[in-house]
Amino acid sequence: MTAAHHAADPLRFAELTCKRLFYPCAGEDWAPVLDYFVAEVDHFIFADLHYQFDRIRPMDVPGLRLLPERTWLDGHAYAALERPSAYGGRGPRQIDPARLEETYLHEASGRLIRVTRRRGFAQYALKEIPNGSLGVFFHRGDSMGEGGSDAWFLANRPRRHPPSRTSSRA
Ligand SMILES: C[S@@+](CC[C@H](N)C(=O)[O-])C[C@H]1O[C@@H](n2cnc3c(N)ncnc32)[C@H](O)[C@@H]1O
Repeated sequence: MTAAHHAADPLRFAELTCKRLFYPCAGEDWAPVLDYFVAEVDHFIFADLHYQFDRIRPMDVPGLRLLPERTWLDGHAYAALERPSAYGGRGPRQIDPARLEETYLHEASGRLIRVTRRRGFAQYALKEIPNGSLGVFFHRGDSMGEGGSDAWFLANRPRRHPPSRTSSRA
């Protein structure tokens, strides 16, 4: 999936009304997605439980230059995934959510590209996105086993955990 494939891609959409992309359980699978969608998308949101921001590496995508003065962190740089002892170590997991916001200059067009890396449960990250403002939902490399998230984004499934201190944001 590279920029060279764009023109020949028969599934390529002509125009997006909403220029925001959401990729849950993204891990570090950033570069190909930025490269592929940068012509149409202005705001990329990558969500993963395990993002830590104490040692940040900029996204390494040819043609995108980080504007460091526009980088900011909302929340703590580091957080561990926890299971509160009140549940005997078997209850719902919790994580202190945080967001790293970056802006990149798309050198070919002069456009500013906003990139959000959000630590926490991607189910809640999706809930934060205002209705009608998502242009691309991108999900891949994920499964129910073998290190996959077992998260069901396209199923109508109820939550199976009690409300917790951070559940509305985590
Ligand atoms: C198998 S990896 C896939 C990573 C990426 N999509 C790729 O193709 O390289 C699954 C990822 O989902 C993340 N994850 C698991 N449960 C999650 C959840 N509920 N919300 C957000 N991320 C989650 C894990 O931290 C892990 O990085």
